[in-house]
Amino acid sequence: MKDTIFKVLSNTEIARNTYKMTLSGDTADISAPGQFVNLKLDGFYLRRPISVCDCEGGILTIIYKAVGEGTAAMAKMSSGESIFTLTGLGNGYDTSVSGESPLLIGGGAGVPPMYMLAKKLIAEGKHPTAILGFGKADEVFYKEEFEAIGVPVTVTTVDGSMGVRGFVTDALPESYTYFFTCGPEPMLKAVYDKTETSGQFSFEERMGCGFGACMGCSCKTKYGNKRICRDGPVLVKEEIIW
Ligand SMILES: Cc1cc2nc3c(=O)[nH]c(=O)nc-3n(C[C@H](O)[C@H](O)[C@H](O)COP(=O)(O)OP(=O)(O)OC[C@H]3O[C@@H](n4cnc5c(N)ncnc54)[C@H](O)[C@@H]3O)c2cc1C
Ligand code: FES
Repeated sequence: MKDTIFKVLSNTEIARNTYKMTLSGDTADISAPGQFVNLKLDGFYLRRPISVCDCEGGILTIIYKAVGEGTAAMAKMSSGESIFTLTGLGNGYDTSVSGESPLLIGGGAGVPPMYMLAKKLIAEGKHPTAILGFGKADEVFYKEEFEAIGVPVTVTTVDGSMGVRGFVTDALPESYTYFFTCGPEPMLKAVYDKTETSGQFSFEERMGCGFGACMGCSCKTKYGNKRICRDGPVLVKEEIIW
């Protein structure tokens, strides 16, 4: 974990209420897709955890949904502003068990970590495909970015305004070697129930400290209590208790 300062390079709305921010700074501690950063925003006591979407050449990309006061304040930030940032948090996804053709399943604010994961799987010579789920067409983002790196994408929208009508679980393919998922908890539970292979789930729990000190994110697993911020946010299917 590193406590450092990042500078905002850009901050743009890319879909309804959804912003892409690029930042420059010390990214040395960011080592795996599925890790997150914890941002100290001016005027807010608790840091806000956001997944790493991409990290290359000292540039960190995050994508966040403006859902409350903290993320609304982030949406107003401009290039040149600084953010105190904890980096290198969380275990991240383990790609060594993915097999040849893993499935990436992202829902809404759970889509961003799937992008860095896709890049890593491709660099390892694997052939990932993605299902990206949203509420409506104007909330859809990153379809083209996944396709540009060679990942076939199926979009689902709850109202059918783009892609397959319904939930990510309505678009599961017949065969895949493994899966990786991130999204709201009801989606994760549905993925757990409907998938037939093993897989890894990233839980975007509410957090306190974000680095293992407060126990505010503790949850029960088959292998005992785990802190989502430190022992997660990624858990394997076999250890999860709903
Ligand atoms: C490991 C991790 C990674 C995350 N990655 C991303 C990401 O890449 N992009 C992204 O948009 N968001 C992500 N989140 C969620 C993000 O941290 C919250 O949306 C953010 O902290 C809300 O701050 P706020 O001050 O705007 O909202 P608040 O004022 O704190 O809350 C506003 C509303 O949002 C709800 N809310 C707050 N936090 C969460 C949460 N963690 N999960 C579900 N609902 C919440 C509250 O219940 C409330 O209804 C992640 C969370 C975790 C723990
Ligand atoms: S948020 Fe403090 S221990 Fe996880």
